[in-house]
Amino acid sequence: MKAIVIAIDGYSSCGKSTIAKELSKILTYKYVDTGAMYRAVTLYFIQNKVDFKNIDQVMKALDNIHITFKINMQTQAQETFLNDENIENEIRVNPRVAGFVSDVSSISEVRRFLVKQQQVLGKERAIIMDGRDIGTVVFPDAELKLFITADPNVRAQRRFDELKEKGKETTFEEVLANLTKRDYIDSHREDSPLMKADDAIEIDNSNINHQEQLDLILKLVNEKLGLKA
Ligand code: DC
Repeated sequence: MKAIVIAIDGYSSCGKSTIAKELSKILTYKYVDTGAMYRAVTLYFIQNKVDFKNIDQVMKALDNIHITFKINMQTQAQETFLNDENIENEIRVNPRVAGFVSDVSSISEVRRFLVKQQQVLGKERAIIMDGRDIGTVVFPDAELKLFITADPNVRAQRRFDELKEKGKETTFEEVLANLTKRDYIDSHREDSPLMKADDAIEIDNSNINHQEQLDLILKLVNEKLGLKA
């Protein structure tokens, strides 16, 4: 069967990674969460007190960053490793990572460093990648491009529930403020701003349930694979 690239872009907390993970299981495709890669670089910068504004420091730091993904055999979930250390939980719950990640991902040197790795990961195709610039920059030739959106209040509530479940003390207002700020920076930065590729299909999931969204996307995937739904 032909192997395709599925690019999933959109705002923060739209459920992109949930959909991507599900699709990767159904299609037995590789899944790459590019947001986790930007979060990993941000965590390294924080831990090593790298001055984001100093390009020499940034370049030196990038030389020491090695990001990998491994499947946790117990949970079957994919986890992110920074220089062989499991940082999956830390990058999701550390508020300093959420606070700085948009600034770090605005740095062109950081983007070039990660985009190159993302393109290598997708060389064999049969991959689902989610992020902000996958359909526009990383894989402009992706066979299927999805642009996922949802109302900011719906997204903030989902993120708030997720953090609460992970035992993180926060308020809905704090989550909404961080999300709104990240949306703004992500879509206004000079290098590779978040935008819908001309040939991407937009899906607003504010008012559709999970199964409806999955069915819709599977139909699109099957069309691209030349299969009947
Ligand atoms: O998807 P996420 O919330 O984990 O992404 C974290 C941040 O990384 C997000 O604010 C923007 C940035 N990002 C990016 O600039 N480009 C990508 N391809 C993925 C994420």
